[in-house]
Amino acid sequence: MANDLFSPTQLGSIHLNNRIVMAPLTRNRAGEHGVPNDLNVTYYAQRATAGLIITEATPISPLAHGYPALPGIYTEAQIAGWKKITDAVHAKGGKIVIQLWHVGRISHPSLLPDGALPVAPSAIKPAGQAFTYQGLQDYVTPRALEASELPAIVQDYVHATKAALAAGFDGVEVHAANGYLLDQFLRDGSNKRTDNYGGSIENRARLLLEVVDAVVKTAGADKVGVRLSPVNPFNDMHDSNPQALFEYVAEALNRFNLAYLHAVEGGIHGGGKADPFDFVAFRKHFKGSYIANLSYDKARGNAAIASGHADAIAYGVPFIANPDLVERFKLDAPLNVADSKSFYGGTEKGYTDYPFLAA
Ligand code: PHB
Repeated sequence: MANDLFSPTQLGSIHLNNRIVMAPLTRNRAGEHGVPNDLNVTYYAQRATAGLIITEATPISPLAHGYPALPGIYTEAQIAGWKKITDAVHAKGGKIVIQLWHVGRISHPSLLPDGALPVAPSAIKPAGQAFTYQGLQDYVTPRALEASELPAIVQDYVHATKAALAAGFDGVEVHAANGYLLDQFLRDGSNKRTDNYGGSIENRARLLLEVVDAVVKTAGADKVGVRLSPVNPFNDMHDSNPQALFEYVAEALNRFNLAYLHAVEGGIHGGGKADPFDFVAFRKHFKGSYIANLSYDKARGNAAIASGHADAIAYGVPFIANPDLVERFKLDAPLNVADSKSFYGGTEKGYTDYPFLAA
């Protein structure tokens, strides 16, 4: 029988009971100092029947933050908080990787230590406004990173990877998507550098590949995934030739033997119209496992797996509203509808109170 969403699979060293993956979802409900709390434990444990949970994007250092109430993965207290989550998910037979995040220019001095300026490949202010503790505020012009500062950022990824392993995660996902730091280096709308990290596609991909190399050396390639979003315009992003850029990146990632490549196959958050892109051709450049994401339903997910395009499908909004999404897909049961007003911040409302199917 052909594989479908309910077939088990292996992504590197991670065994999945099914191919229904929970996508990374920013929820802004962590405790003080970026420490995951008991409500966060309940939320992830409720969703442990996913074949794999990818956590919300998680800052790797104090300078990597860009929104209120994010959890971090760089202090002992954060490790202890996350350990409760990985233990709860594992106790229910689930698997969980953490998404490692540096926001780059998508931040604001009020969110950073000592009111620091956000950093970026180039000093280009993104259009739009930051979510801060004082409400929406215009983005500022970021500070262009010196090449000499990049090794310290790579080390922040290494430190966070060690913290993730100490917290009991099954692996890590390097967030190189959606207009955050690594994506800002990849795409030429945000990267105007004239050194080894800008200009050619090879140069723009350099920081990502250095980060992946260092993370792989820390965790082992079979525990590392990478997330890309070739044409997502969200966060004021654009590239002049995304097909060539991301096919190069997919090929370059082959050398590592990663657990998986994960792609956002379009635009999110109404950030504008995504440029045309051939995701089937792109995927063929990557020799390992592939997680497809964005607006899939059950039928399209099964079709993408049956055709060989994807090994697993990541579902975002459906997992916010349906902790038992796997069971509902299996039974063709109706889905709860997500309330977008409670996506970001707040309490258990719209977070841990979505109903399971009646027993
Ligand atoms: C968000 O908080 O809106 C957000 C965070 C991470 C992403 C995308 C969106 O990758």
